Amino acid sequence: MYISRKVAAVIIGATLVSLATSVILWLALGQAGMVVAPPLLTGALFLAIACVHSRLRADQTRYHRSLLEKTSNDYRQLEALSSLLWTLTPDLPLPRMRGWSASPDFLKELAEIILATQPNLVVEMGSGVSTLVAGYCLRRLGRGKILSLEHDPKHAAATRATLALHDLQEVATVVDAPLTTVNLGGTPWRWYDVAGLSIPGPIDILVVDGPPDTTQALARYPAVPVLHERMHDKTIVLADNANREDEKQVVAMWEKEFGLEPDFIDTEAGACILRRRSPGRG
Ligand SMILES: C[S@@+](CC[C@H](N)C(=O)[O-])C[C@H]1O[C@@H](n2cnc3c(N)ncnc32)[C@H](O)[C@@H]1O
Repeated sequence: MYISRKVAAVIIGATLVSLATSVILWLALGQAGMVVAPPLLTGALFLAIACVHSRLRADQTRYHRSLLEKTSNDYRQLEALSSLLWTLTPDLPLPRMRGWSASPDFLKELAEIILATQPNLVVEMGSGVSTLVAGYCLRRLGRGKILSLEHDPKHAAATRATLALHDLQEVATVVDAPLTTVNLGGTPWRWYDVAGLSIPGPIDILVVDGPPDTTQALARYPAVPVLHERMHDKTIVLADNANREDEKQVVAMWEKEFGLEPDFIDTEAGACILRRRSPGRG
């Protein structure tokens, strides 16, 4: 049987405490102390066991619940991934998803929106597997293009290489857009440099999955204020990572300032679809 140092210390400590208690009771009460000590110590021992047992039960319940949540989320991701693969039928394996990349359930939302609305122009912030998925959908529709703004040249090159491997360069373009200072109502923000960017037509779908939240607080807020003049009444904004406090605040700012109505979707990282509020509604 393996006994850890901590457990050995507890056993030795408890033995010494019970010995000391017996001696104190014997000194204080004489013979009577020897009668009182065993039941007192046994009671204390059972109380300690009951406390440890109830703590272990609580830990076990918490662990079981988190394992169930994880398993159910993993299943949802596999379900979304398989329906995505059946829909896109890619020529080659798709790059890694989740983590820094979008999760399968977000990508499935993106594919559904593109296939249902048949956009002419999708503009994305933050390139990667989402650019590829959008490219496959547009190629399948036989119409539309995606422009993906990317601030990191290495990541831009990697996404371009993947697009080329999948032969999607005709429909998907990664634009090098380093982060620069953008002034919005007198406040400076770090956001993509789009000064020299020519956007071919109004934006039908705006995918907001960058810049990373490490660049500044509310890092993704400028997307709508900078590009809203390129948007129209039916433009759909799809934001990833909507479970984060920053993103919730950004969505609330867009709603207040631009009348965009948010619809939160329960995906792994949380997603939000925003549409312009129809006239006559609150
Ligand atoms: C949330 S990611 C964009 C993910 C992309 N839409 C996709 O589906 O793969 C936002 C930005 O993080 C950066 N990024 C991506 N992977 C990264 C990594 N492993 N470490 C640090 N930054 C990363 C890239 O510049 C990217 O534009």
